[in-house]
Formats: sequence, structure tokens, C-alpha cells
Amino acid sequence: MPDPRLHIIQGDITTLAVDAIVNAANPSLLGGGGVDGAIHRAAGPQLLAECRTLGGCAVGEAKITRGYDLPARHVIHTVGPIWRGGSQGEVEALARCYRSVLALATEHGLRTLAFPSISTGAYGFPIRRAARIALRTILAYLDYHPNLEQVICVCFTRADWEEYMAARAFVDPRV
Ligand code: APR
Repeated sequence: MPDPRLHIIQGDITTLAVDAIVNAANPSLLGGGGVDGAIHRAAGPQLLAECRTLGGCAVGEAKITRGYDLPARHVIHTVGPIWRGGSQGEVEALARCYRSVLALATEHGLRTLAFPSISTGAYGFPIRRAARIALRTILAYLDYHPNLEQVICVCFTRADWEEYMAARAFVDPRV
């Protein structure tokens, strides 16, 4: 039976009223383009002000802030790997992003969480492989953590949504 707590949707992550949305940030945590830019625009300037106090974030790590003007209560910022062909530890670093975010959400007693497709935009990680890593890592974590009630993978485009749906069938053949 596929885990009913994992959802895959197409949409804009800044609109979701969940305990935390995940930001695909850069090591400075001082904003950028893509989903990072969208989250900072929607959250307002207080988000950047809090990010300035965090001292940056290493690849694969995660840090939490409030959500400010977002409908989400918190933002969990993580920094994905830049794709360099796949032989520089990118696969493990991406999996570590998901694990770090999930662990931080558990630590803060959060129950609902939404991820963008980390590293698959400006950082160039191939979407098919990234989707499988994301879903495999999330499902493995959910198996041992009943505290999490809902984890949503938010795909910005229809094409990405189709890749995630295909990846789910690949990763969790029970679907
Ligand atoms: N909601 C959900 N997903 C979104 C949104 C949104 N509003 N906007 C963009 N995305 C998707 C992109 O389509 C892509 O699938 O987020 C995914 C990640 O793409 P990027 O935002 O480019 O992030 P990433 O590839 O991890 O690169 C991070 O880009 O914005 C800068 O500061 C950021 O330097 C960092 C780098």
C-alpha cells in the first residue's frame, strides 16, 4: 500500500498553508532567483532579516526560520548540490538535503511539510534522478517517523509533476 502521507502536486509552494515550506537556497541564505526569490518575495523583508542572523548554510544542511507573510508557519532553508555530472557526490548531497529537512521538521514537532524540487532549476540536477532521490528519501524517512502527517512534493511545472509521478511508481512499485 503506498504511503498516503506523501503527496505530489503541481503548484506554487508559496501558497501552501503548511507547518513549513522548504526553500532551495544558496549557501549565503540571502535570497536569489527561482523558488528562493519567490519565497522571499511572498514572505516579506523580515525573512531576509532573520536569514542574516543564521550565518549561511552548507550544502546538504538545513536551517529553520519563521514564515512571516507566507501562509506557511515556517521556512526550512536547505542548499542543494550543483550538478557537475554526477561524480562529485551530488546524489548523496541531495539525499542529505531531504534528510536534514525532515530531521529538522521532526525536531520542531512539525506535522505538515512541502518540498520544491531541490537543485533541479538553476543547479541543473536532472529531474528524473532528482525525483527518485527525493521520493526514495522521503518514503524511507516516513516509514520510521509517524510524527509527520503530510509531506508534499510541489512541482512548479506539469512536466516536473509527470516526472515525479513516474518516479513514484519506480520507487514505490506498490502504488
Ligand atoms: N513553487 C514551487 N517550485 C518552484 C517555484 C515555486 N514558486 N519557483 C520555482 N520552482 C521550482 C523550479 O521550477 C525548480 O523545479 O523549484 C525548483 C528548484 O529550482 P531553483 O529555484 O532554481 O533552485 P535550485 O535549482 O536548487 O538552485 C538554487 O537558485 O534561486 C537560486 O538562490 C538560489 O542560488 C540558489 C539556486
